[in-house]
Parts: sequence; C-alpha cells; structure tokens
Amino acid sequence: MAHEEYVLEMRDIVKVFPGVRALDGVQLKVRPGKVHVICGENGAGKSTLMKIINGTYVADEGEMYYKGKLIGPHTVQDTLEMGIAMIYQELNPVLEMTIAENIWLGREPKNGAFVDFKKMYSDTQELLDRLNMPYKATQKMYELSIAGHQLIEIAKAISVNASVIIMDEPSSAIGDKEIGILFEQIFSLRDQGVAILYISHKMDEIFKIADDITIIRDGKWIETGPAEDYNPDKLVARMVGREITNVFPKDTTVKIGDVIFEAKNLTQVKEDGGRFRNISFQLHAGEILGFAGLVGAGRSEVMRAIFGLDPLSSGQLFLNGQEIKIRNTQEAIEKGIAMVNEDRRAYGLVLGRSIHHNISLVNLKKYMKGLLDDKMISEDVEKMRNLLQIKIAHENVEAGTLSGGNQQKVVLAKWLVGDVKVMILDEPTRGIDVGAKSEIHKLMTEFAREGMGIIMISSELPEILGMSDRIVVMQEGVIQGVLDRQEATQENIMKLATKGVKKDE
Ligand SMILES: Nc1ncnc2c1ncn2[C@@H]1O[C@H](COP(=O)(O)OP(=O)(O)OP(=O)(O)O)[C@@H](O)[C@H]1O
Ligand SMILES: [Mg+2]
Repeated sequence: MAHEEYVLEMRDIVKVFPGVRALDGVQLKVRPGKVHVICGENGAGKSTLMKIINGTYVADEGEMYYKGKLIGPHTVQDTLEMGIAMIYQELNPVLEMTIAENIWLGREPKNGAFVDFKKMYSDTQELLDRLNMPYKATQKMYELSIAGHQLIEIAKAISVNASVIIMDEPSSAIGDKEIGILFEQIFSLRDQGVAILYISHKMDEIFKIADDITIIRDGKWIETGPAEDYNPDKLVARMVGREITNVFPKDTTVKIGDVIFEAKNLTQVKEDGGRFRNISFQLHAGEILGFAGLVGAGRSEVMRAIFGLDPLSSGQLFLNGQEIKIRNTQEAIEKGIAMVNEDRRAYGLVLGRSIHHNISLVNLKKYMKGLLDDKMISEDVEKMRNLLQIKIAHENVEAGTLSGGNQQKVVLAKWLVGDVKVMILDEPTRGIDVGAKSEIHKLMTEFAREGMGIIMISSELPEILGMSDRIVVMQEGVIQGVLDRQEATQENIMKLATKGVKKDE
C-alpha cells in the first residue's frame, strides 16, 4: 500500500548496467508542495533514479507509486501525461527549431488535424513573459546560449502543468540572474502544491531551497531527512562517507616563472555588435589566472577566439615571446594550447565512442607511431583513471554512458595526457561533486608546478578566490581590472564586475 502523504514513492529500486550496479535498493518518498533534493557524488546514481521515474529507463527491481497507485512499466510519454516532467542534465534541444516548437515538440496544440501555430506561438510568448524570460517565441534555439537552453527547458516543464517536476542540475550552466528566475519559479510551483525533485552539487543552493534531502552513495540509499537536520559539512560527510578537509588546495609555493603566453588588444566585432575589445593580459608559467565576471561578460568568447573556435577581428597572440597565429583549433592544439569548455557535448567528447578512443583523439601525434600505439593509450587511460578517480567499468565503455561528472573528468584527462603549455579551463568543475572538485583542483596545482600556465574561468567566486594567483575581472567585453591574490575579495571582484562600461572607450 502507498502512503497518502506522498505524491511519489520509489521502493527498493535496482538498476544494473553492464558492469555497474547503478542503483541497489534505493528508496524515495516525495511530498507534494516540497522541494526534495537528491545528493550524492558523481556516479552515485542520481540521474539514473530520475530516469527510472520518468520512464527513460526501466528498473530491474522495485516499485513506483504515483498518487497512491502502483505504476506498471511506463514510457516518458506516459509519465508526462500523468504529470511528471523532467529537465535532463544533458540537454538536447533541436537547434534549428524555434523556442515554441521546442517547448511543444510532440504535443503541439491542434486545430482539427493541423498544428495551431498561432495558438502555439501566443501561448509560448505568454509563458515566457510570465516567467520573466527575455526571449521571443519565434527565436531559433541556436541563437540562445546554454543558459538560454536551460531556461527554455524550465519553461517547458512548467508548461506541462506537472505534479512532479524533476530538475537534474538545472542551474549548472546558468548565471546568478537566471538562477534567480529559476528559484522564483520553483518557489511558486512549490506553493501551488507541485513537488520538485532537484539535483545539484552546489551547497549554497541546496540549503536555500531544500525541504527534504535524500542521500545516495554508490547506488545505495543512505538516508532521507528534513533539510533542517543538515549543514554543509554533515551533508558532504554523509555523501562521500569520508571527510573532505581542504576544499581549495591552493599551493602558494608553486614557482611562478616567465611569461609564456600573452594576449594584446584582442578585439572581436560581429554583425550583432562587438563581443569584446582591447583584451590584453599576460600568463606566466606556473600561474593560475582566474577570469571572473558575470555571465555574458565575454570571458568564454575571448577564450573561444584564442583557441581558434571563433575568429578575432584584431589583436595579437604571443607564445614564449613569439607571435603566433591561430586560425583553427587544430593549430591551437599543435602549439600546445588546450581548452576544456563548458559544453562538453559540443567540444569535449564523442559520446558514442569509447573512453580509449576519446583519450587518443586529441593526442594522435603522441600515439601515432606508424600505427596507433594502443598499449600506450591504454596506459594513459589507466593513469588518468586512477589520478582523477574516474568511475568507469573499463576503457571501452562509451563516453555517453558515464555520469555527468565523470564525463567532465574524461574531458580533462584527454588534455592532461597531451603536451600542453597553456590550459584554458572554462568552468572546469561545473557539475563536479565536492570530492572530485578538490581532486581536479589538486591536479591543476600539479600541472602549474610542471610549468603549465592555466587560465580558469569560473562563476563560483570561492573557486576563483581559492585557486587563482591573479584575477582578471571582465564586464561587457572589456577588462575592468586585474587583482592580485592577496588583495582579491568577493566584494572587490563584484564591484569591478558591475562597475559599468563606458561605451566610447
Ligand atoms: N546508459 C548507461 N549505460 C551504462 N552505464 C550507465 C548508463 N547510465 C548510467 N550508467 C552508470 O551508472 C552509474 C550512475 O550514473 P548516474 O548518471 O546515475 O550518476 P549521477 O549520480 O547522476 O552522477 P553525476 O553527479 O556525475 O551526474 C555510473 O557508474 C554510470 O556510468
Ligand atoms: Mg547525473
């Protein structure tokens, strides 16, 4: 029998994938009108549980009750009709379609046998306006950033009038302003009696919105309790089953060497206006140079141009004092410039191929000895697997089957095995759990120690302050200031990031 007070109950859920017991007897009881946060390390099984609820996967064992009824085998379409909507961790928008078409895909409003486009577009615009989302229903998805895609997914989930909305790391790719919009929506849905299942690795967020917390570790249910019973330290300790002591293991004894890379007056102008102008900075060997700023400040755009993904309008780049030209990413990689990007789907991983293949891909020069040296690749994979604690059954599993955080580790590993002089990291620990985060930070330190220069974009101020030797602060496409580690504080970074840009500069 199901309990009346829960809108959704999962009992003794087991899910086995080849080589992994992803879920092993998990329990979940979800109250209506509450925000229920699921916590656990990368690969703990959070997304798998959510996908079983919404019908993407079928559980091997266990039962699901929804509104008091035992639910049989169900598809995504079934659960959507029942009132369960899900925002996936890895988004997959149809980029050539409009916002409205994406929101109503597969359930378009009809007028007789035909899609009622007029209603579809006016309903969508109403929805967007009501949610304070600054978009037009007719805009194509490719015009939007990842944050935009995320917001549209949220609008879509809300449009379903669901009783349960699952949000798998919805805030990982969006900025503070969008997070504000998201939380407003969550609170208003909650007050209307909707249950929100929320997954996040960000502690401040969890404690802002959680009513209930369920902890999963290695596919096992650990406990469920009211959020008041937890604080960040206790939560982390229960999640990982061990203490994490040093959150930002900055080693200030790493020697800072000569300038290895320099950007001079980088400017990019596009039809729809300038992206950035007069960007100049130096990067030293052994240095971690942080780039702070609000979302949209142009940090990623600058790095994309340096890495050869987008053209520069003017400006010069120097590597070890010599001017270099980078026309495409291949040239960047050959010169020893690497980039780990915020969109691991697009630039990071070939999801349909093995870990082995992914690691070899950008390092072909290193491995190509007439034939591809598979043994050497395997050794490197094994080294990285231990170093980054990547949770994989073996090196031949497809990258797409890894948990979100483990995918990010493979992206990092892929570059770390190469001969890299300048490493650009754009939100390197986005979606990475607290334990793995400090492992990645330690690695950054190790690579700096070996003389690599590291550029790190991060929207998390504690990470910027914790790891950087110097901090470049950008706003609206210009550099507003550079701070030394000793003088940097959250306050003076935010002051620079919101100072206001003179348009005639
Ligand atoms: N389709 C699949 N095929 C094979 N293995 C899978 C598949 N989906 C998930 N797994 C494995 O199941 C385990 C749990 O993964 P899951 O994605 O649920 O983790 P998660 O808790 O969401 O982690 P993260 O915080 O990194 O997103 C992982 O070991 C993962 O590699
Ligand atoms: Mg996940």
